[in-house]
Amino acid sequence: MAASLCTRFLGKEFPSPLVLPAGILGMSYGSLRFARDAGFGLVTSKSLSLEPRRGHEGPIVARFGGGILNSLGLCNPGIEAGLAEVEEFSQKTGHPVMVSLFAVNRPDFEELTRRANDSSAVFIELNLSCPNVMDEFGVPLAASKELVADIVEGVKKLARLPVVAKLSPNALDLPAIALAAQEAGADALSMINTLGPGLLIDTAARKPVLAPRFGGISGPAILPLALKLVYECTGRVRVPVIGMGGVSSGDEAVQMIMAGAGLVGVGSALWLGGAGVVADINAGIRGYLERENIASPDAIPKLERKNA
Ligand SMILES: Cc1cc2nc3c(=O)[nH]c(=O)nc-3n(C[C@H](O)[C@H](O)[C@H](O)COP(=O)(O)O)c2cc1C
Repeated sequence: MAASLCTRFLGKEFPSPLVLPAGILGMSYGSLRFARDAGFGLVTSKSLSLEPRRGHEGPIVARFGGGILNSLGLCNPGIEAGLAEVEEFSQKTGHPVMVSLFAVNRPDFEELTRRANDSSAVFIELNLSCPNVMDEFGVPLAASKELVADIVEGVKKLARLPVVAKLSPNALDLPAIALAAQEAGADALSMINTLGPGLLIDTAARKPVLAPRFGGISGPAILPLALKLVYECTGRVRVPVIGMGGVSSGDEAVQMIMAGAGLVGVGSALWLGGAGVVADINAGIRGYLERENIASPDAIPKLERKNA
């Protein structure tokens, strides 16, 4: 059977189930275009704040055996300049793009939403999970179901685009937070953001590898946790989920879909392996569909649930 990678999510059709997650490639027109050409069905902007942020001084990204440690500090050009790049990308390519928004309180998320409403993005993603800036802002929003619900509710009152709430693995009871986001009106969820933060040490220099000391963990090390959290959360919520965290192969993308995801983010694998990784993952999914005689990624059977 000739399999198609076309995947439906929130009523829209995407040419591949693969999503460029927020922040992996920055967010210029050129980098979004690179991601489209690499084979992502949907691309996400860097998380945008009301004002530009310089982020942390380097080194801010390091590799280790399990993936990447990063502490970019949410550097971004600000909502105005960011949306201009999104518009250029959208107008020149017609490819679907999701705008990621980042703030530390409800009024700022609301203001960002008003601005993003006029963009040609297909979805708004709320980055509620920022381990890298914990020192500056206290407990990450995504660790509190009350804060998550409050922000999602405020944004949903204004949003003209479907709202995707991006959740953090750094919460004690993620399914409860996923449920709170859904009850507050989120149209979809995405998970997981980086885990941790964690620490890597330069033994010769006897100091942390990253200048800000700690950083969020992503890549292969977090795959089993991401799969488990997507599986648990999709057992509790009705809204669809974009699953991400450590996916590096076609088989792992299929695992993410079986765990319950409708679309699959591939971030660190692209960062570590380059554009060819995306083509390989698409080919791996297609190969699986053809071997198993499944028409499209939407039709991949979900993992059985014990109490189902
Ligand atoms: C260098 C880097 C920058 C990131 N920037 C953002 C960001 O701006 N906003 C956000 O929501 N997530 C950000 N993330 C998290 C990713 O979007 C993704 O949730 C996480 O890396 C897990 O997926 P992966 O293991 O495939 O990379 C970033 C991750 C990395 C590695």
